[in-house]
Amino acid sequence: MKNHRPRFASLLAGSLVLTVLSANAQTSRLPDPLAPTGRWSIEEIGNAATPPMGWSSWNAFRTDINEEKVLAAAEAIKREGLAELGYRYINIDDGWWLKRRQSDGRMLIRTNLFPSARGRGKADSSFLPFTTRIHQMGLKAGIYTDIGRNACSQAFDLTSPNLPEGGTAEREVGAFGHVEQDVALYFEEWGFDYIKVDACGLADYGPAREIVAQYEYRPFEPYIVRSKPNRSNIDAVTQLYGAMRSALVRSNPDRDFVFSICAWGEANSRSWGKNVGNLWRTSGDITPEWSRMLHTFDSAVTRELYAGPGRWNDPDMLFVGHGDFDEKHLLQARSHFALWSIIAAPLIIGYDLRNAPQALLDIWSAKEIIAVNQDTAGNQGVLAYSGDDVQIIVKTLSTRGEKAVALFNRSSSPTTVYLTAEHLKMRSDKPIALRDLWAGKDLPAFVGERSFQIAAHETVMLKATGPSILSNGQYLSEMPARINVAVDGIRALQNDPTIHHMVDPWTSTRTSGTRPQYAGWGGPRADATPYDEALSIRDSEYRSGIGALAGSRLEVKADRAFTRFSADVGIDDSSLGTSVPVTFEVYGDGRLLARSLPKSFGDRAESISADVRNVSLVELVARPSGQDPSLVVVTWGNAAFEVSGPAS
Ligand code: GLA
Repeated sequence: MKNHRPRFASLLAGSLVLTVLSANAQTSRLPDPLAPTGRWSIEEIGNAATPPMGWSSWNAFRTDINEEKVLAAAEAIKREGLAELGYRYINIDDGWWLKRRQSDGRMLIRTNLFPSARGRGKADSSFLPFTTRIHQMGLKAGIYTDIGRNACSQAFDLTSPNLPEGGTAEREVGAFGHVEQDVALYFEEWGFDYIKVDACGLADYGPAREIVAQYEYRPFEPYIVRSKPNRSNIDAVTQLYGAMRSALVRSNPDRDFVFSICAWGEANSRSWGKNVGNLWRTSGDITPEWSRMLHTFDSAVTRELYAGPGRWNDPDMLFVGHGDFDEKHLLQARSHFALWSIIAAPLIIGYDLRNAPQALLDIWSAKEIIAVNQDTAGNQGVLAYSGDDVQIIVKTLSTRGEKAVALFNRSSSPTTVYLTAEHLKMRSDKPIALRDLWAGKDLPAFVGERSFQIAAHETVMLKATGPSILSNGQYLSEMPARINVAVDGIRALQNDPTIHHMVDPWTSTRTSGTRPQYAGWGGPRADATPYDEALSIRDSEYRSGIGALAGSRLEVKADRAFTRFSADVGIDDSSLGTSVPVTFEVYGDGRLLARSLPKSFGDRAESISADVRNVSLVELVARPSGQDPSLVVVTWGNAAFEVSGPAS
C-alpha cells in the first residue's frame, strides 16, 4: 500500500518551497516555514485579472455537443450583447474527442460532431478552423481535458454516443503522460485560449472498479479518494497539475491562456489551487437544484483569502435557466447569479443560447451585477453576517468608499434583514447612499441601519457608498485580494463541516448521510476565526480582523500604498489549544518591523503597529513558542492599514 500521507511542504507552490529552503541554506537547521521571504510567492500566470466570463457546453448539453450548437452559442453571445459585457470564452467541455492515435499519441477530434475539424485527405483533425472562427468573432476558445488517462464521461456518461472509441490505449484521451504534447497541440497548433482540466482519471479508475473491467480501462490506483483528503496522494496531484501549469506557460509566451483546475475541492485543492491555476473548483458538480447550489456556494464563500486577480475560487458553472433556476424561478436564478458575482466567481453560462428567453438574457446581462463581479480590485465578498437562513456578504470595490452588498435569504420563508453601518464598516452617524443593483435605481440613503423585507430565496444586491469607520485607512479584511495565505498552520487536513449538507443528487438518501467534504477547515478567514467563530481576545469581540491558526504566515501586498499597519493581537477566546504562547511578527519586505510579546491564552490583546511606508510586501506571522497538542487560534483584531493624506 502506498503512503498517502500529504507532506505539508509540498502543499505550497514549489517555487515558494525552494525560496524558503535556499534562504536557510547556510544554516544546518531545518528550514523555518514561517521565515519571511520578502516576496509575494504567487507567480501570476495566464489571463484572468478578473473572474473569467463565458459559456460552456457542459450544463447545456453534457456530452451531446456539436459544432453547430457551440457556434450558435458564440453567435448568441455576440448578438445579445453579452460579449460586450465581458462574456468572452466559448468552452467545449467533455465529448469532443474521438481517440488518441497510437502511432504518435496525437489526439483526434470527433469530426462527425465538428465537421470543420476534418483534415484534408489524411485521418487527421484540427480545431484550428473552429478557433479561428471564434477568434474572428472577437471571442476566445476553450478546450477540456483530464489530468489522468481517462475522462469523467468514460466513468459517468456510459450511455453517451460520444465516448472515446477504440482499444484501451486509444481511449486514453486524458493528458497523463502526454502533458507537453497535448498542451502544445491545443494551444500552439489549435489556438485555444482556455483549458479546463478535470481529474476523474485520478479518482475513478481504481483496479477494483467494475467499469474498469467492463470497459477494459487501464487500472489506475487512485491519487484522489473523494472526501478523504488524508487518503489522497496530494503530492502526486499537485505535481501533475503543476506540470500542466508549466506546459501552459511554455506554450503561451503571450500569457493569453486560462488554466481551470477541476479537482472538485478534493485533495486539498481549495488550498493549493491559487498557486497552480487561475481558477479551481471548490466542490463537486453543481446541479440545477437550490440545495446543491447552496452547497457549491458554501464551498467557496468562506475562502475569501484565497482569491484575487489571477486566482479565483470556482463554485462551478452557472445553472441559470435550468431546474430550480429556470424561467419559472427567476428570483432563484437571480440569486444564483448575484451570489456568484459577489464572491468573484467565474461567470460561465451553461444554457442552450439558441433559444434563450429574454428573462434569462436579462439576468446574464445585468450590467451592474456584472460590474460587481468584474471589479478590478478582485476582492471576494466577505461574510458580514452568517447564519443558516440569512447571509450578508460585502465586497469592497475599487472605487473608494464603495461596497457591493448581497442580502441573501437562503430560507424558504420571507424574512426581515437589518443591514447596519457596522456590516459595511462605515460610520453609523453619517448617511450611507444605497443603490439597488437589480433595479438599477438609487434608494434613499440611511443612517445607522435599515431593514429589508426579503422574499424566500431572494438575494437583494446593493451598492453602498459612505465614509469608512476608519478616518484614515482600511481594515485588512476589507481587502482580501491583497492577501496570500502562504502558510495556513493546518497540521492535519480536515473536511469543512459548514458546507450545506443537501441530499446528494446522485446517491439520494441511500447512504447514511451527507458528510463534511473538502479539506481546508482551519484556513484563515476575514472577520471570523478559522473555525467560523466571531473574533475575540479576552472577552473583546472584533468585528474586523483576520483569524488564523498559530503557525501561519500571510503575505499582504501593500504596494507602497500605506503608511502604517496596526492590529490588536492575541490568542482567540475560541482557541482549542490553550497551553502555548504565540508571538506575532510583522515584516516589511523581509525585515522585522514589529513583534508582540509572547501572548498566552486569556491574555489581553496587545496593540502592535509598524511603519510600512515604502513597503511592498507585509508578512504577518503568528509564531507559536512550542507545539500545542491542540490547534491554537489567533486573532489579528482590527488589523488595518493607514494611509497618509487623501486615500487613493
Ligand atoms: C466532471 C466535471 C464537470 C464536467 C464533467 C464532464 O464531472 O466536474 O464540470 O466537466 O466532468 O464529464
